[in-house]
Amino acid sequence: MSGREALAHSLERARRRTLALTDFDDAELRRQYDPLMSPLVWDLAHIGQQEELWLLRDGDPQRPGMLPADIEGLYDAFMHSRASRVDLPLLSPAESRAYCRSVRSAALDVLDALPERDENEIAFRFGLVISHENQHDETMLQAINLRTGAPLIQPRIVQPHGRSGVAGTSVPVPGGPFVLGVDPDTEPLSLDNERPAHVVDVPAFRIGTVPVTNAEWRQFIADGGYRQPRWWSARGWEHRRQAGLTAPQFWNADGSRTRFGRVEDIPDDEPVQHITFFEAEAYAAWAGGRLPTEIEWEKACAWDPVLGARRRYPWGSEPPTARHANLGGDALRPAPVGAYPDGASAYGAEQMLGDVWEWTSSPLRPWPGFTPMIYRQYTEPFFEGNGAGDYRVLRGGSWAVSPDILRPSFRNWDHPIRRQIFSGVRLAWDA
Ligand code: AVJ
Ligand code: FE
Repeated sequence: MSGREALAHSLERARRRTLALTDFDDAELRRQYDPLMSPLVWDLAHIGQQEELWLLRDGDPQRPGMLPADIEGLYDAFMHSRASRVDLPLLSPAESRAYCRSVRSAALDVLDALPERDENEIAFRFGLVISHENQHDETMLQAINLRTGAPLIQPRIVQPHGRSGVAGTSVPVPGGPFVLGVDPDTEPLSLDNERPAHVVDVPAFRIGTVPVTNAEWRQFIADGGYRQPRWWSARGWEHRRQAGLTAPQFWNADGSRTRFGRVEDIPDDEPVQHITFFEAEAYAAWAGGRLPTEIEWEKACAWDPVLGARRRYPWGSEPPTARHANLGGDALRPAPVGAYPDGASAYGAEQMLGDVWEWTSSPLRPWPGFTPMIYRQYTEPFFEGNGAGDYRVLRGGSWAVSPDILRPSFRNWDHPIRRQIFSGVRLAWDA
């Protein structure tokens, strides 16, 4: 398959996902499930609007597009908060679908017609759009998870079994330099915040073989973890108190949990989900560990100390399959710990990609030499010190992330109080 065919395939896969997540009646699509989330019909048209901007208008909003300027403005994420979008005169679901279809058909014509020039540049531009659509698919899954009422969507694959004895274990990562970040020649689809590759020296540390599980989290609760300020940062405790946190989001008082409209048992050996950064930090302190920095995390994930080089994926160069990681969204949940021995990194860390986003201790900062990409507002406004800026970095992707967009260098970020995201934690320790 040529590079361009692969891009067309990824576009098609993302669209199938988007349409499946918006295949509901009009009233459903216009509902706001939670003030933290947009109505699904906003995400739908916003996906088309961004695709049109980056692929058909060269990123220039002054270039006339398919929508009247006032309508297009409704889909500007900086102009309209998520909480306010439900009250905007948005395109109807049918209009949104038709718009997305027109943009896509023109975008595929562009992809066909582009002259042979820098194929990496073409891959980057289309990769940006593929990444954007898939990220909004995950956002829509967060919204649907928050929705009350009979289930809208079903899991579509069965999870592999876990291994006992792996929870709570750790692997050593010796100190020494490694290459952090990536360059366009090796990772043409990498986004601005992952670049450039540069050498960083990291002291020795240990990292959890797998993420922290629900059973481990229950011990933290049983030991009074949510009642003792000593485990919490000052800010974290203040938030815990104000928000009245006593357990991960979606855990019920009777020991069950509610997700995607279903009440279910909380599996012991599944990575804990729906925790804030502050809870992750408190848990780590209680457990005698700490959060990894995002730099430590990336080394444990991607560095091959024998070759003295990065691996493309934790396990090597083979693209992710169901043997390596729980990705793509069909499972609707994380897999039990130990389910992916074939996905282990060179250091023996497992499930680094997929399952749950892992909070790190790192604020969002640029790598030295950071250069904003054509979509300037993707990362830069969110860097520490840039106004918008109170974020922590999450790594590794969740079960809801498409394998088409994930890499060990991929960086996500959110406010330290957010937990409707598919967030968990993996511990680290000083060596
Ligand atoms: C990188 C996940 C924080 O959802 O706010 C989507 C991705 N940027 N549209 C977000 C994004 C613009 C972004 N995160
Ligand atoms: Fe967006």
